Amino acid sequence: MAIYIAPSLLAADFANLQRDIEMINDSAAQWFHVDIMDGVFVPNISFGMPVVKAIAQYATKPLDVHLMITQPERYIKTFADLGAAHLTVHYEACPHLHRTLQEIKANGMKAGVAINPHTPIDLLKDIIKDIDIVLVMSVNPGFGGQSFIEHTFAKVTQLKKMIVDAKSTALIEIDGGVSDVNAKQLVAAGADALVAGSYIFKSSDPIKAVARLLSS
Ligand code: DX5
Ligand code: ZN
Repeated sequence: MAIYIAPSLLAADFANLQRDIEMINDSAAQWFHVDIMDGVFVPNISFGMPVVKAIAQYATKPLDVHLMITQPERYIKTFADLGAAHLTVHYEACPHLHRTLQEIKANGMKAGVAINPHTPIDLLKDIIKDIDIVLVMSVNPGFGGQSFIEHTFAKVTQLKKMIVDAKSTALIEIDGGVSDVNAKQLVAAGADALVAGSYIFKSSDPIKAVARLLSS
C-alpha cells in the first residue's frame, strides 16, 4: 500500500538547514513535516515564520505544517501565505474546531486535526467527514526523540474503522517515535502517512532510512 513519508525538520541540523532540505528533496519522501511550538500549548519553542519562509524557499515538496500552539486560528492566513499545503491544528487547542477547519480549507490548504495521546478517538466522530488528515500523536507533543507509545496501534485501528464507517476521506498520519520497528504495524493498522524526525535525520544514511519507511 502506498504511504506518505514526512521527515520532521525539527530533527534537521538548523545550521545546515538548506543542505538537509535538499537532501529530503532528493529522497523518496513526499512531504516536509514542519513543527511549530509556542512554549504555551507545549513546553518547548521550535521556530517561527521567518524559518518557515526559508524552508519554503528550498523545499520542492508540500509543507505539512503541525501547529502545536494555542489559538491556531489566528495564524491560518499567515501559514497559507507562507506556502503551507497542509495545516494541522490540535483538537485540544480548538474550541470551534469546525469553523477552524473550514477556514483552513477556504485558505486553500488541507485541514488536519492532531490528537494528543490522552484524547479518545471517539471525540472526532462528529467532525470526521470535515477532516483531511488526522494526526495521531504517538508521543506527547513538544520534543523530538521520544519513545513511541504502544497504545497508538489500538487508536489507529479504531480510527480507521471510524473513517471507513463514515465514508470519510481523511488520511491517518502518525507522529512521534516512528521507526522501522513500528512502521509496518502502523501501516497494517491503517496509517497512511508516517512522520519521522530522529529516525531519518540521526541515521547514517537518511535517504535509505526514508526508503526503509516507505517500504513498510
Ligand atoms: C513532536 C513533533 C514531532 C517530532 C517527531 O512534538 O510533533 O513531529 O519532530 O520527532 P521523532 O520522530 O524524533 O519522534
Ligand atoms: Zn509534528
